[in-house]
Amino acid sequence: MSRKSSFMLVLGLVAGLATTLMVSASAETPPEAANSAAAPAPFHPSNLAIAGHRKLTAEDFEEPKACGKCHQRQIKGWQGSMHSLSFKDPVLQAEWALAYKATDGKALNDCGGCHTPIGIATGTVKFDSSLGKHGGFTAPAQAAHGVSCDVCHSVSGSTASRSPLGQPGNASIELNPGETKYGPLKDAKSGYHETQYSELHTKAEFCGNCHNIFHSENQFPIEHTYDEWKASPYAQAGIPCQDCHMVPVEVAIQVADRMVRAKDVPNHGLGGLAAKGAKKEREIVHDHGFVGGNGVIAAAMGVPGAEEHKAEAIKRLQSAADLDMDVKKGQGGVNELRVKVTNLRAGHHLPTSLTFIRRLWLDVTISDDKGRVLLRSGELDSHNRVDADTVIFGNHSVDKKGNSTVNPWEIARFDELNTIPPKGFRYGKYAFHLPADAKGFKVVARLNYQSYDQHVADHLLGEKAVIVPTVEMKALTRSYDASLKVAAR
Ligand code: HEC
Ligand code: HEC
Ligand code: HEC
Ligand code: HEC
Ligand code: HEC
Repeated sequence: MSRKSSFMLVLGLVAGLATTLMVSASAETPPEAANSAAAPAPFHPSNLAIAGHRKLTAEDFEEPKACGKCHQRQIKGWQGSMHSLSFKDPVLQAEWALAYKATDGKALNDCGGCHTPIGIATGTVKFDSSLGKHGGFTAPAQAAHGVSCDVCHSVSGSTASRSPLGQPGNASIELNPGETKYGPLKDAKSGYHETQYSELHTKAEFCGNCHNIFHSENQFPIEHTYDEWKASPYAQAGIPCQDCHMVPVEVAIQVADRMVRAKDVPNHGLGGLAAKGAKKEREIVHDHGFVGGNGVIAAAMGVPGAEEHKAEAIKRLQSAADLDMDVKKGQGGVNELRVKVTNLRAGHHLPTSLTFIRRLWLDVTISDDKGRVLLRSGELDSHNRVDADTVIFGNHSVDKKGNSTVNPWEIARFDELNTIPPKGFRYGKYAFHLPADAKGFKVVARLNYQSYDQHVADHLLGEKAVIVPTVEMKALTRSYDASLKVAAR
């Protein structure tokens, strides 16, 4: 109960309306100058841009519930999604507030460009030091919906080629809100709005505009899900993010196992009308839940659709990886156990994005036939954390002096890399002794996931405001005899 109320408190505080804050003078910039590569981005350091350099207000965007009247399947998925919470998420609010204070306000556009593109494009996001533990942000309703229908379907192009690194990232999208909705259908007809076919929406680049995050000054790729995908077998097979994240997990599993497009999965059953009153059936009407691994935030905030999202996030996590193991004789009577973790079905590294905050680790117990525990690793302690010897799959982030930090504005590089590439694997290795009187032993290995390290959650939200749940992604038990042969599976 106390967990929930603490999230609700933060939320209640950010719900207020904001007054206008001038962010940009882009309306005065002559179009030719602003179009040239040398022109500064209007919402620097974000790569966000507005088509035609219009001056926008929040009223230029519609709220999702207006779209949901006709697009019922889409709104059902979007409600309770991390996209719908990308501004209200208390973890984001706290981290953004810390960033804002540490960078003299530069982080307003930087973080906001992806977490509330409408708020930044309309200059309506405001910092309020009285919110939450560290401060927080307010925005009008349209902007507080985060990555909403009218964000994605107002995207008229990408600014990636004019961005500092010339590639998708840091909100490299151009918004053109209004009558026309941009989408994947070549022959859509709606009496309510104009439609415009956009090939970009069918490509992974569309997602990459926000799912690649570079440090605004040192340009270090802090999170690079899109780049990981681009180097993967999925990119080679032409399977974009949409084919896993905009279909139910059961279809995504088929996509990954067969290495085919979602539309080529036999009997996918995703056809239907894309809107009330639509004239024809579409081959696929896309899920709009964009479920990844995070089932914690929506559930803690108690928003509509949270339970469905949480259940689907757990299924995604449990579909992602596989475990195997082998044991062999090492030096001096020591036995060596190797636990192999394969990234079976994630189209990017495991974990991806916040690889320095997400916790993916092996929990291993070896016990002999008399019940004596020979090795224990990766057990959670009373603080809901694992110890330093645990095999953790993630990256270790440091600042420019080489000191540990998980604050995105301080990260200069990773000094340890240990994430698992798509269709690739990594080992966890363990050494143990078998007592002379043991006739055999049993190994229990579990691959576990937490959305946040508990220490990070405590720092951002307050001590034990939320106890980060553990999801068991995969488990494997195997028994061996004293000669290290597999006794039973
Ligand atoms: C994160 C971006 C994003 C958000 C948010 C989003 N969409 Fe979409 N939507 C897409 C993409 C991408 C596609 C195309 C997928 C494809 O064809 O590969 C799409 C497809 C569609 C389509 C075409 C039919 C279909 O389902 O394939 C409609 C209609 C649509 N979206 C409506 C909405 C509505 C209404 C909302 C809000 C409730 C919404 N979208 C929110 C990205 C988004
Ligand atoms: C290029 C777009 C982009 C920018 C810029 C960006 N973020 Fe994010 N942020 C994301 C995406 C995408 C995720 C989700 C990744 C995931 O869940 O795997 C995310 C997730 C987060 C989360 C985790 C939220 C949760 O509940 O799991 C925090 C905290 C966060 N961002 C803080 C920040 C801060 C602070 C900044 C500015 C210094 C920032 N972000 C800038 C795109 C961005
Ligand atoms: C009065 C009903 C209605 C409302 C309200 C409505 N739409 Fe539509 N929309 C439709 C119909 C009908 C289609 C055509 C579907 C088809 O041809 O399969 C459509 C198509 C679309 C497409 C596909 C465009 C393409 O070319 O791929 C997108 C994207 C879309 N709508 C987004 C939105 C968004 C965002 C909102 C809210 C701002 C919204 N719609 C509100 C009825 C509506
Ligand atoms: C305008 C920027 C933007 C675009 C475009 C965008 N995303 Fe996101 N996405 C975000 C942000 C921001 C978050 C994180 C919200 C949070 O955790 O607070 C997020 C979260 C997610 C998550 C949930 C991650 C988790 O931890 O569970 C998935 C999955 C996802 N996005 C997939 C996609 C896919 C697939 C596309 C392309 C069809 C896409 N996104 C397009 C900004 C964007
Ligand atoms: C072959 C299917 C597949 C493809 C393709 C794919 N993903 Fe994923 N994705 C997964 C699975 C499975 C998970 C859950 C395991 C995990 O968290 O990595 C996931 C998780 C995520 C998460 C949450 C990660 C976390 O733990 O915080 C984000 C964000 C995400 N995907 C974005 C993307 C984007 C963006 C693309 C395209 C550039 C993409 N995905 C392509 C299968 C896929």
